[in-house]
Amino acid sequence: MENSLKDQINRDKLPRHIAIIMDGNGRWAKRKGNERIFGHKNGVKAVRETVEAAAELGIGYLTLYAFSTENWNRPRTEIDALMSLLVITLDKEIDNLMENNICLVAIGDIDSLPRKVKANLGRAINKTSLNTGMTLVLALSYSARWEILDALKSIARKIESGELTAKEITCDHFTEQLQTRDIPDPELLIRTSGEYRVSNFLLWQIAYAELYFTNTLWPDFTKEDLYAAICNFQNRERRFGKISEQVVS
Ligand code: IPE
Ligand code: IPE
Ligand code: MG
Repeated sequence: MENSLKDQINRDKLPRHIAIIMDGNGRWAKRKGNERIFGHKNGVKAVRETVEAAAELGIGYLTLYAFSTENWNRPRTEIDALMSLLVITLDKEIDNLMENNICLVAIGDIDSLPRKVKANLGRAINKTSLNTGMTLVLALSYSARWEILDALKSIARKIESGELTAKEITCDHFTEQLQTRDIPDPELLIRTSGEYRVSNFLLWQIAYAELYFTNTLWPDFTKEDLYAAICNFQNRERRFGKISEQVVS
């Protein structure tokens, strides 16, 4: 492609981990006079493009927010359609994941998912487990508060059993109890569809993430949109509490 933003990306300064809140499927479909599920179906194409683009660039970790704990409160028909789509997509995309050397993992309350989703998810995770390229993290039935509470409970159990004292709890120790324990914190968080909120996503992990919002609805998100977000990220100064002069030197 001519004039791709890809050429402007500094390969030595890539975000190690990109997390995306894929939002706007329903509105995309409605604008076209279609049912919401039509938007979800078209969102799969955007997922494929984004995963491929990130893997090609050499991004280490890509986390996609696919279904939140709160999304269980949607109409039953939409939930069922989303779960079926997940079953089909997990099956269809395995070859693509293998070709791109991508290792799939999942976070969230996986046990709460329908049996067929769990089975196909497990199969895809197993099959791709030895791949050494990008790690693709699917957040399914995920809520950050749930994840944090779960971590808290496991720490509480250790205290109860005398294995740990309150004084010994550190940030590192807490991070170890999260489902993302093997995954570095996201450096770039993208949300599509012009909504400016985090919707219970990775609350602990995004403490110092750069936030990027775009009006593009998820089904319209392309490789170029990802490149644009990365270029924007690379032009920011990440100070981590210090002053500019300290960071530059
Ligand atoms: C994001 O699109 C996909 C999921 C939350 C599963 P939405 O379904 O939230 O689409 P909008 O926000 O209603 O347009
Ligand atoms: C967040 O989108 C969850 C996912 C993208 C899976 P929502 O559309 O559910 O978020 P809210 O309800 O607008 O905050
Ligand atoms: Mg939404």
